[in-house]
Amino acid sequence: MENTKTKDKLLAKVAADFIGLDTVYTLANGKKSQRIYLDSTASTLMMGAAHDAVEAFYEHYANTHSILHFSAHISSKQYQWAHERILSFLKADPEIYTCFFTGSGTTAGINRLARVFRDYRPDQHIALISLMEHHSNDLPHRKHAEKVIHIPLNSYEGRAGCINLNALEDELLKNKGQVNYVAVTGVSNVTGIINPIYDIAELAHEYGALILIDGAQLVAHLPVQMSGHKNPNRNIDALVFSGHKTYVPGSPGAVICRKEILENIEPEEVGGGMVENVYVERYEVKTNFPDREEAGTPNIPGAIGLATAIDVLDRIGMEEIFDDEGELVLSALETIQKIPGIIIYGELDYKICPRAASISFNIKGMDHGLTAAILNDYHNIAVRNECFCAHPYVKEMILDDLLEATETVDEENFENAFKLKSGMVRASFGLYNTLSDIDALEQALIDITQNTELYTAQYHVDESDNYRHNTFNLALKNHFSVADFIDNYVNG
Ligand code: ALA
Repeated sequence: MENTKTKDKLLAKVAADFIGLDTVYTLANGKKSQRIYLDSTASTLMMGAAHDAVEAFYEHYANTHSILHFSAHISSKQYQWAHERILSFLKADPEIYTCFFTGSGTTAGINRLARVFRDYRPDQHIALISLMEHHSNDLPHRKHAEKVIHIPLNSYEGRAGCINLNALEDELLKNKGQVNYVAVTGVSNVTGIINPIYDIAELAHEYGALILIDGAQLVAHLPVQMSGHKNPNRNIDALVFSGHKTYVPGSPGAVICRKEILENIEPEEVGGGMVENVYVERYEVKTNFPDREEAGTPNIPGAIGLATAIDVLDRIGMEEIFDDEGELVLSALETIQKIPGIIIYGELDYKICPRAASISFNIKGMDHGLTAAILNDYHNIAVRNECFCAHPYVKEMILDDLLEATETVDEENFENAFKLKSGMVRASFGLYNTLSDIDALEQALIDITQNTELYTAQYHVDESDNYRHNTFNLALKNHFSVADFIDNYVNG
């Protein structure tokens, strides 16, 4: 009981300490209000503790390739701690797994692993992925695996659910001995629907395939256990996630992979820091992890900030975070689906189809871009719209509505109308969101659905196919520029 109380207190402290929670903007109606940030699935806000830890670390910043001065020693030790902390957070046995940083998101890591997996088992040429993948867990496999098969999703009277395990097993059986790996997202970046990653791992391993998890939307929202399962087939071979979706903008992406997969393949990237000896005729790659995987000077402050955020999340407890955020998702699902004229995508029953962090919807008859613009300009609610880099998944879910909406559009305007209607609006949540944010979203959507004509008349579509307010100049009213900041610094 005492332990739970301490955790609640820590969660409350951390949730209130994000940078940007007090940001105020002027709206189209002239009023000023605090931004409600519902776009964490694109990028989360910065955790205060991570920001402060990095600021303190800058006093000691030095390159980890330097060795003998005090700061080099401190920097190297803290950078090493960042790797170890991420492994322990994801319950990945450090004897078996390595963690290395790459790029700024998940994309670089998955591109890298698609090439590594191809070279690891060149005779097994098929990659199985699901139909709900973000492009970053689809296109790298299309480019590097010889063949990619998209596994369909469960369907509940036409509503999409998570990956269909029977269909997955059918493909594994049909292509036995040829499937190199299965790559799936832990949580959809569109609907927030959670995939049963350990069941998928078990199936994949039973048929001799490896398992790669896109953890971009998973790691900040759910507990993860990569190794140590009673049934070792449920262990995960590799997982990739993004620092900028884990409360540390500016931090790198992280790859966690079984060392055995990497060690017989020369690292994809070469340069300083990953070689033991270099001669004019040849070079010798380091054998130790993670050094051999990290060519060049790494993003040391970013990695330290990310590991700080991870450490704080772990101290709160990922089960508690999942439960806390689950309340928000459930409340959003329940309240928003009751508003007449709103379509929420994916299976709505949270018990059948649990979700984390995101829901996507449309107002019937209103383009996604117009809804998102009104939510911003009149309600100061930041959401993302369009297809969220998951075109096949989004288009599959909106197909019927899209056909209905474009039925009466003449040929000349068809392409434009199709484009404007091809997408959804996504509301997504992080540690800092509260039930009052969901209330604000609900009230805003009720207002928009009741005043559709009034709002629509205030907007036009610009040459980039974005909805713009006819008179309100968003940029003029809410201006921030680094150049102004520098001017103030120089002249102040
Ligand atoms: N992939 C990010 C998203 O889903 C940017 O919004």
